[in-house]
Amino acid sequence: MDRIYLDHNATTPLDARVYEAMAPALRATYGNPSSAHWFGQQARAAIDEAREQVALLLGAAPAEIVFTASGTESDNMALRGAVTAAKAPRRKVVVTAIEHHAVLHVAQALGREGWPVETVRALPGGVVDMDELRAKVDGETALLSMMLANNETGVIQPVAEAAAWAHGRGALVHCDAVQAAGKIPVDAASLGVDLLTISAHKLYGPKGVGAIYVKRGTPLRAFVQGGSQERNRRAGTENVAGIVGMGVAARLAREDLAEDASRLSALRDRLEARLLALPGARRNGDGPRVPNTSNLTFAGVDAHSLLLALDLMGIAVSTGAACSAGGAELSHVLRAMGLSVEDVQASLRFSVGRPTTEGEVERAAAAVAQCIERQKQAFGTGSQGAATGAASPSPR
Ligand SMILES: Cc1ncc(COP(=O)(O)O)c(C=O)c1O
Repeated sequence: MDRIYLDHNATTPLDARVYEAMAPALRATYGNPSSAHWFGQQARAAIDEAREQVALLLGAAPAEIVFTASGTESDNMALRGAVTAAKAPRRKVVVTAIEHHAVLHVAQALGREGWPVETVRALPGGVVDMDELRAKVDGETALLSMMLANNETGVIQPVAEAAAWAHGRGALVHCDAVQAAGKIPVDAASLGVDLLTISAHKLYGPKGVGAIYVKRGTPLRAFVQGGSQERNRRAGTENVAGIVGMGVAARLAREDLAEDASRLSALRDRLEARLLALPGARRNGDGPRVPNTSNLTFAGVDAHSLLLALDLMGIAVSTGAACSAGGAELSHVLRAMGLSVEDVQASLRFSVGRPTTEGEVERAAAAVAQCIERQKQAFGTGSQGAATGAASPSPR
């Protein structure tokens, strides 16, 4: 079966050029980068080169890039590191309701530990409510954390505007740019943020490698301790081959950005136009979006059953954030945008990527139409939850 992968926001395949660079790093560059001898220095040089490439992607200086083990770790580091380094009376953490769990769950944990936490709601189009943000970010705020592009809808957030406001109140700003990097230009300086997260596996790089931009002079407490790696900001022997892969992925993302974006947006728009022509279909997310993402509600359809039916036909899509896709969990992003439980359960995310072709988009659109039709015939139009007998998601 020719499978079609339309879940590039969950993860991307490793680019062949990244693989080619990683293979020798895995085999030959085995020295410990902290060792003073030749073997160690080879590994150190490979990391330095990767750091330069990641810095170039983000418009940063190499010394401002810290490698981590994931986007999740970078998000944890930003929130915990900034809040624990802040000076009283600055204790408050402000996050938006549409952040990834890598931010939201840390904020919730900080809340349980006694830090004041506030959440800014989203408007129905998927953009954060800036009036509420301005009301919540004040002189007692230690950190505002706001993503650049949402992983479920692709909607781009007004981070530069929010950062300017937060800095005016003396707060630090963290931006989760995991879903933006490689899809739209991400320039830490023009966004005006202090901390910014990216992850290699969303950029056709390897899994298990992330990075965080830490603007020079930003107070950040290290929370992985036990070594002086990464200038004492993240202890642990570096994942050399992974970091090399991230460096190449970052260079390719920068070099190919314009071409990828125009090709992917044409594919995404074509897919979306086909799907929106289906009865009861509508899009979630208005305004500027990253070029590859489409989140659609098919009214009256059970999206989980649709996902499984598509999978049987070789087509991979998602019902929301990848981490919650296997579990019975409603998308907090779509709920924050005001969708009813029924509409959330009727929503699918399609995310095209570098390998996607026009033929795949056409086949996928036809398959979705066919599966929806079958579901409606089998269960009538109000078919939610009936088609698989699987446990229905429980709201959180
Ligand atoms: C917006 C966002 N932030 C953070 C992460 C976590 O990145 P990682 O998978 O590298 O831990 C993801 C992954 O889905 C994401 O989409």
